Amino acid sequence: MHPETLETYGSHDFHGGIDVLCTAHYKIDPDSGDMLFFAATGPVITWYRADAKTGHVVESHSLDIKVPVLMDDFAVSDHYAIFFVTPAQVRLDHVMQGKPGVVWDEASLPHGVQIVLMDRRTHTATWHEVGGHWANTHFYNAYECNGQVIVDGHRITRLGTPADRLDTPVTSHSWFPPALPHRWRVDLATGSATEEMTSGVAGEFPRINDAYTGREHRYGYFVTTRALAEDTMSDGLAKQDFLSDATTVIEGPEALTSPGEPVFVARQNATSEDDGYLLTLWWNRLTGLSELLVHDAADLRRTPLARVKLPSRVPFGFHGNWADHATLDRAVSASRGGTG
Ligand SMILES: [Fe+2]
Repeated sequence: MHPETLETYGSHDFHGGIDVLCTAHYKIDPDSGDMLFFAATGPVITWYRADAKTGHVVESHSLDIKVPVLMDDFAVSDHYAIFFVTPAQVRLDHVMQGKPGVVWDEASLPHGVQIVLMDRRTHTATWHEVGGHWANTHFYNAYECNGQVIVDGHRITRLGTPADRLDTPVTSHSWFPPALPHRWRVDLATGSATEEMTSGVAGEFPRINDAYTGREHRYGYFVTTRALAEDTMSDGLAKQDFLSDATTVIEGPEALTSPGEPVFVARQNATSEDDGYLLTLWWNRLTGLSELLVHDAADLRRTPLARVKLPSRVPFGFHGNWADHATLDRAVSASRGGTG
């Protein structure tokens, strides 16, 4: 996009390095600045590492996971790219027949959900059985600690149209029921995997302070899905403290509801992990328009620090990131130099 007018230029294919659709959930390695992402094409996952400065892919590796999992997000730790193999699957053959394309197929995974750890340097993959039939929505983060890989994310009891009733339409809340925050642990010595629920507050769109990607984080942020209203996606903004095990939830001020994915922006010269701002887009029921709210992430209160009224409605469920002034200025000067 043009950094000033937001005019669309087109797709960036990493100078010919990518010829498939990729996840929206790339990660930036805080040590190297590398961009880490994947594409899921049928049962094949291709992992990519790109140099964010040049926009070139510098590494890729494909992995066959045998089933066409609907894989929207993944997690990375210091050593691993982490993928979950679940019954939520994309069936293009069904789409061609006019049937639902996202199918809940427990029969395809007789041993239940598996976690795949792919070594980011050697590309060796190990499989770890968690068991049970469920799916992930999005992840907070992953990190390695005391011989374990720890992954935080949201877990949903099912996702998609059940494989045995493809001809029966399901409502959107039944297609995508509320998810709950969970933590998974893989013991690297024994290979065993376990899971636990980390909050009883249902929600979606988990994020962290991105500077902690792959490192131990204490805080997470998400939007709540406690009630299932017909006209909204979410109904509150939450902060999870993984150390004290506490979930703080705030409602929207006045007629604001259905917040979208929270984006954490560190304060300049921040002194702690949560020293910064949470940016969220909310829907104003009275005007039908969206508003960008800025909250103090360290001291989450219903009344925001700032409220920016937008001239339009931003559709629910958008993913976003923050670009600071220096980043935008660089993009503007590059576009003015004709290299944008
Ligand atoms: Fe997503």
